[in-house]
Amino acid sequence: MKHITIFSGSARSGHSYRAIERFLSELKKLREISYEIIKLSDFTIEYCVGCKRCFEKGEMACPLKDDVLSLARKMEQSDAVIFASPNYGFHISGKMKSFIDRIAYNFHRPQFFGKYFTSIIVQGIYGAGKIRSYFHFIAPPLGFNSLPGVILQSLEPLPEKVLQKNEKKIVKHAQAFAAFLDKPAFPAPSFIDVMMFRISRTKINTMLDDGSADYRYFKKKGWFEKDFYYPAKLGLFGKFVGFLSDRFAGNS
Ligand SMILES: Cc1cc2nc3c(=O)[nH]c(=O)nc-3n(C[C@H](O)[C@H](O)[C@H](O)COP(=O)(O)O)c2cc1C
Repeated sequence: MKHITIFSGSARSGHSYRAIERFLSELKKLREISYEIIKLSDFTIEYCVGCKRCFEKGEMACPLKDDVLSLARKMEQSDAVIFASPNYGFHISGKMKSFIDRIAYNFHRPQFFGKYFTSIIVQGIYGAGKIRSYFHFIAPPLGFNSLPGVILQSLEPLPEKVLQKNEKKIVKHAQAFAAFLDKPAFPAPSFIDVMMFRISRTKINTMLDDGSADYRYFKKKGWFEKDFYYPAKLGLFGKFVGFLSDRFAGNS
């Protein structure tokens, strides 16, 4: 049984919410799941003030006392996470962006390895392609295995043809996500993945110390000595790429 948490960036129980429900009802036919839908507008999420205390001292040092850390905990406790957002001014909703800003310490200290991610985007007319790319771009640095999201149209009145197209798309996306959940939770990393890991861990090791939350996190995870974030078989070339990346980061 996989537990899925869906974060919705719309304050309405409108098209995004209905798309989430439709997606889940289809997914339930294919996989045993439990789930929670979280409307971000039901929670207090203050704007990030940019103090960087979460980066430097740890997320517990955030001066804003609101619901963000309990929402982040729900991500940690899930096997899969879905971000659903309407297109607002050619980007995600402000509520969703505030949430992402506030959990940005996870880009420094990624922790969602072995978990799956996708997105659902709803729009009146145009521009959601970039939103889908954005979600797919931010998920791997957080540790997630990411499946590109689905885009649905919602300009009212919705002609029958568009309704049917939306229905086909959401069913297809639920099927794709069900298959995605069966893929290895810890896939073999690409050379770029290895390179990025080795450069960041070597930089953190050489430039920071125990006073830094990032350093302490990497140390606790044993990442200064590891080939990759999680056990992965690197071939001879992968090991060489790792070695060179360590050398490059250590010397630059
Ligand atoms: C403030 C605002 C900005 C919007 N900007 C865009 C946009 O740039 N492109 C677009 O295609 N639709 C845009 N829309 C339309 C919404 O994406 C659409 O109404 C969507 O269904 C809203 O999601 P909801 O039904 O879940 O609330 C905008 C809507 C609002 C309220």
